[in-house]
Amino acid sequence: MKIIQSKDELSEIISQIKCSGKKIGFVPTMGYLHEGHLALMRESKKRSDVSVVSIFVNPAQFNDQKDFENYPKNTESDSEKCRNEGIDILFLPEADKFYPGGVPDIEMKIPHLMKNLCAVTRVGHFEGVLIVISNLFHIVQPDFAFFGKKDYQQYLIIKEFARSCGFGTEVSGLDTVREPDGLAMSSRNARLGQKERDSASLIPRAFRIAGDLILKGEKSPGILREIMSDVILSSPLNRIDYIEVLNPENLSGIESMKGDVLVAIAVFVGEVRLIDNMLFKIQE
Ligand code: PAF
Repeated sequence: MKIIQSKDELSEIISQIKCSGKKIGFVPTMGYLHEGHLALMRESKKRSDVSVVSIFVNPAQFNDQKDFENYPKNTESDSEKCRNEGIDILFLPEADKFYPGGVPDIEMKIPHLMKNLCAVTRVGHFEGVLIVISNLFHIVQPDFAFFGKKDYQQYLIIKEFARSCGFGTEVSGLDTVREPDGLAMSSRNARLGQKERDSASLIPRAFRIAGDLILKGEKSPGILREIMSDVILSSPLNRIDYIEVLNPENLSGIESMKGDVLVAIAVFVGEVRLIDNMLFKIQE
């Protein structure tokens, strides 16, 4: 596995790979890799000739400086994991070299996908994600890029971004990988103490209860939200950022649950903000 820190060096290697006609798979990450990331790498290995992983805690996408500073890091163990997965190139840029002159003062928006959920409660977050993805896609020129559906809104935004800007990259979303109690794997879980971890397990519990209600024929998004909220708030450590019931295609709100329905939530467990979502198929 080649470990590369410089954009120019990576660009040169990518040009050679492109000339040889090989297909490039790309897994962009912010590190502190877990099984969810490894699943993305395995999919990249299956579908591409050359797999590239980037690890870069992108300052442009944090609206809270403390959150940025506290983001967990473990580059040595991450490199080992990438090596074990057979990754060909690990891109580890340094922030000041990645954004010479600081984070660019530019704002990219996809308004119809950025009017609710994290776009509203983390102002500027997706604009920052698009800045880094645009830079990374230009350097890596991936044929395929892989993202986890835990960040469902991010996945839809990046897919639409790649399509509408003509990157020629096929963006795939992979199912969320979960802990045995159902908690979605996230690098942020490492910041939970034992009490917070116990409270976090109320999130998958709320989804299980939502699933049961839907099976019993509940059609009201309001009732679903209310019951999930009661379950999550049964721990005083939990604070709800949002619980939304949406159309999974375009993230618009729905009056009554039918067909495919996305339930998306964000919860502060102590200081740590966790997100999760589930897709339900409602029987008519
Ligand atoms: O999902 C993440 O880890 C990040 O938002 C991403 C896509 C790597 C961009 O920094």
